Amino acid sequence: MPIGKSTKNKATAFAPATIANVGPGFDFFGFAIDGIGDRVTVAKATMTGVTISSITGDGGKLPMETIGNSASVVALKMLEDAGVDFGLELVLEKGLPLESGLGSSGASSAAAAVATNAILGGRFTPEELVEFARYGEDVAAGAPHADNVAPAILGGFVIVRHGPQQEIVRLDAPKGWFVAVCHPHAELSVKKARKVTPESASIRQLTVNASNAAAAVVALKDNDIGLFGRAIMSDEVVEPARSGVIPGYHEVKDAALVAGASGVSIAGAGPTMFAVTGSRVRAEKIGEAMAVTWKHLGVEAEAYACRFGAEGARVVK
Ligand code: HSE
Repeated sequence: MPIGKSTKNKATAFAPATIANVGPGFDFFGFAIDGIGDRVTVAKATMTGVTISSITGDGGKLPMETIGNSASVVALKMLEDAGVDFGLELVLEKGLPLESGLGSSGASSAAAAVATNAILGGRFTPEELVEFARYGEDVAAGAPHADNVAPAILGGFVIVRHGPQQEIVRLDAPKGWFVAVCHPHAELSVKKARKVTPESASIRQLTVNASNAAAAVVALKDNDIGLFGRAIMSDEVVEPARSGVIPGYHEVKDAALVAGASGVSIAGAGPTMFAVTGSRVRAEKIGEAMAVTWKHLGVEAEAYACRFGAEGARVVK
């Protein structure tokens, strides 16, 4: 469906959860998953600026002030750029747990961008929407990383090519790949996870991570889930540091592998973990094994089986 295809007075968009980093792809790999996500409704208002009229599903934790909330910041930036003489009232329905590693702030930012674009007559391209949505990540995480917002908007699997001019490279995900996503009832802020992430890596670690990231992309193109799994489990820099702040990480990873996962890693900044596999039934079994392991360790957890590389954000009303 085209993003924001007509001018409306009110629009609602849904944006999916996303899994960023994907092992050696720190800050540059991300993919969308189906089933869970956030919804944002925007309605034209006579007052300029963006006012948040309600937020649900966040347990009262998210800020209602325009400049402190990812969704409203994105909408405001778009209105300013478009130079329109009206404002917006915004309703945010959180379907994703906060600070979970499932791209929660990215989904709110992406849904706000797509809904606002519908009000603006679809004047911005999907790539421009990714740029706007990055402002929301800056507010939430203190870093304008695009590895959640790009797949949240574009769907599929995304490579954020870093350089003087950042470029988004999108791949269709192979059909028939599934993800077990297991979310422990614990929060880990992106800010905290970034603090424990090393600031530099050795040349040997660079070789390991870069070669495995390259292999993961080839595996996607060749529909080789075995290679993909091995490649995403070869992260010598971020996983060793961040697994230390996820209680039970190694036990849950082992449980997923014993249950048949092709590869397992941290979802985004964590604490959610994900495992890839070639069937929905196996993804359900793997998710259950992960959740049971966490529960044995005294941590409540829930698991989902999702399609790998699902559709991106879209207008739903
Ligand atoms: N790339 C970001 C990080 C993703 O790991 O800090 C956060 O969801």
